[in-house]
Amino acid sequence: YVIGVDCGTSGTKTVLFDEKGSVIASKTIEYPMYQPKNGYAEQDPADWANAMIETVKAVMAKSGVSKEDVKGIGISGQMHGLVMLDKDNNVLRRSIIWCDQRTAAEVEEMNRIVGRDKLVEITANPALTGWTAAKILWVKNNEPEVYSKVAHILLPKDYLRLILTGEYATEVSDASGMQLLDVPNRKWSDELLSAFEIDKSWLGKVHESCEVTGTLTKKMAETLGLCEGTIVVGGAGDNAAAAVGTGVVEDGKAFTTIGTSGVVFAHTSNISIDKKGRVHTCCAAVPNTWHVMGVTQGAGLSLKWFRDNFCMTEKETAKLMGVDEYYLMDKQAETVPVGANRLLYLPYLMGERTPHLDPDARGVFFGLSAIHTRKDMLRAVLEGVTYSLRDCVEVFREMNVNVSDMMACGGGGSSPLWRSMLADLYNCNVKTVASKEGPALGVAILASVGAGIYSSVPEACGAIIKTDKVQAPKAENVPEYEKYYQLYREIYPALKAQFA
Ligand code: XUL
Repeated sequence: YVIGVDCGTSGTKTVLFDEKGSVIASKTIEYPMYQPKNGYAEQDPADWANAMIETVKAVMAKSGVSKEDVKGIGISGQMHGLVMLDKDNNVLRRSIIWCDQRTAAEVEEMNRIVGRDKLVEITANPALTGWTAAKILWVKNNEPEVYSKVAHILLPKDYLRLILTGEYATEVSDASGMQLLDVPNRKWSDELLSAFEIDKSWLGKVHESCEVTGTLTKKMAETLGLCEGTIVVGGAGDNAAAAVGTGVVEDGKAFTTIGTSGVVFAHTSNISIDKKGRVHTCCAAVPNTWHVMGVTQGAGLSLKWFRDNFCMTEKETAKLMGVDEYYLMDKQAETVPVGANRLLYLPYLMGERTPHLDPDARGVFFGLSAIHTRKDMLRAVLEGVTYSLRDCVEVFREMNVNVSDMMACGGGGSSPLWRSMLADLYNCNVKTVASKEGPALGVAILASVGAGIYSSVPEACGAIIKTDKVQAPKAENVPEYEKYYQLYREIYPALKAQFA
């Protein structure tokens, strides 16, 4: 057996799998995201730690599996979050997480100090507001008293690793999103660290994702109901982990995930960089390979926002019927035709990355008329997110990155309606894999490689990942959607100046 822990934005999910990837037990605990100001987003690392501990305890207790049979643990999590610790491992401030957009000035500062081209050459990406380096500089510029106490800087899942093993360590996929890693060479960039005056000793040791980074301490083993010495592998950032969990580990394979953010991800055995910086290039969880990913900031977030503000009835009905409220929302959206009666939605609630890289962009309903109902708006939200994901695929196609074999995953990937929109807008088959555990399965697979159960990540994926459903594009929808997509593409450029 192996355990996968996924420290997400809405909650932490822990799953105990057997060696074939079947779920033995699973538990999720949710926690809040704080938004102290427009564009700010923070979480409390203590919530992550508590959720990890309680979910691991819960899966062990309910599975009945004996602790000696658990061969390894993999950890995955939301990328880019900044965890700052003092010399005694006390958390110095709430974590500034991936979707926070407060660092526009620091992005300029990074460009000024290092130069945009140099940053792209070393980190494979231009300076980005949500990534960790800009956040470190923000704390330095705005909270000098906090900054003066920093002794360790970790990513969310690597903070959990510290709790599990006592080790300060990370791995290449998540470290790529800190913008301090030399991504082509898979090691910390001394040049950038010295340019930003960041002490290398603050950062953990960088491993490949399936390498063993440490073992469970006696204290944690007792708390969790596991054996001291159980291995903890590098794991991966949530997207690189989802890639392993959906078998996206060779060229041509890609996935779209709709969680809080939406990501289109493609594996590349050679490094491939978009000079315009519209998509990100990071190390993949398969040793010595990379990936490109386009990110839509407000994907599931848009739907959740719509649910929380406009779907009180569905919430009540879902509770009474014992079904998922998103299922009821899907059923309503299905009754509205393609194009939501000519209503379009731009999902930029938290700014946008691909393709605009604009932290100031905000959401838009375009074309609202007196004929529209709440149902049209709901369908427009689903379609708007899908147009934005198509924007990512457009960039890949321009870069000649092959995305012919597309998987869908994440919460949104489980919606047949959303999958059919993806197939129609990408104009290719969209598949799902039998296991819906994405990142948790991905890091459990990495743990099984680290534990020696399989000899490589592709070999493990070959044995574990099975394709489930295939959604083909609908011939009548493809040209319709194309028309609306072209209209969608014209809206942001017309509003760009007004957002700023
Ligand atoms: C990727 C990104 C998001 C987070 C969300 O660059 O910011 O996908 O990892 O969990």
